[in-house]
Amino acid sequence: MLVTRLLALNFVGNRTSSVAFTHAIWSLVHCESQGLGYWAAMREEVEKVFASDESEEATESKKHYQGQGARWMRWNKSHTAQMNLIESFLKESLRYNTDTNLECKRMIVDPAGYRFKNGVNLKQGTVSAIPIWQIHHDPDLYPQPEEFDARRFYQGDDGSQARKASIQTTSDYFLAFGAGKHACPGRFFASQHLKLLMAFIVMNYEIQPVSRPDDEWFGSSHMPNMAAGLTIRARQC
Ligand code: HEM
Repeated sequence: MLVTRLLALNFVGNRTSSVAFTHAIWSLVHCESQGLGYWAAMREEVEKVFASDESEEATESKKHYQGQGARWMRWNKSHTAQMNLIESFLKESLRYNTDTNLECKRMIVDPAGYRFKNGVNLKQGTVSAIPIWQIHHDPDLYPQPEEFDARRFYQGDDGSQARKASIQTTSDYFLAFGAGKHACPGRFFASQHLKLLMAFIVMNYEIQPVSRPDDEWFGSSHMPNMAAGLTIRARQC
């Protein structure tokens, strides 16, 4: 029983996180190939967060690594909370690269069925789902939905931008983590994990900018291209 539960958790936690991050990296290298400069902007953001940390540990790290401390920093929640561009980038990636076209699958268990406000009635045993790809690509909800805009959810440090909901906030329009009672319980962990990964990669690696290869659909799952490769190397300076 325990093993079955752990395997299920591994599947829901690992597959989703690795697919989400692979999609984000492909979007990032694609944006780099278009000269959008997100890589440098995210690196700058991480450096700024590090520079503003006056804790003993950060001060030591600044001295020890002579200006390179941000690359080796031990990150904490207060750092990731300030990574607004990285968060916006990842949220946009979850929207733009939505990893399925059907989510929030639910079965009607009430013998009386379920009646929607518009009168549609679903019988007991019916399985329903939400077409989240279509919602995430609806121009009435997201202007120019086919454009990857890393600042779509950006909350500027200077307060000049309206506060945008964080990556883990579910809503009727942002359903990457599902919704309602069964919304993903791992989303708080996943968002920290993705932000740390992105911060680490932009700080420590360089990737050759290339156009994004065609994605693949596997049933209702939208997967990054599994055959394409990327050239990545350790940061040179
Ligand atoms: C980027 C990463 C992730 C994405 C995009 C994601 C997405 C989702 C989605 C869409 C659902 C279905 C929600 C619904 O039906 O309303 C779900 C459920 C779930 N996720 Fe995640 N997830 C991620 C990471 C994780 C992680 C890291 C864990 C665990 C450590 C996790 C654990 C679960 C569990 C246990 C459920 C089932 C919840 C239930 O049925 O009550 N997920 N996730």
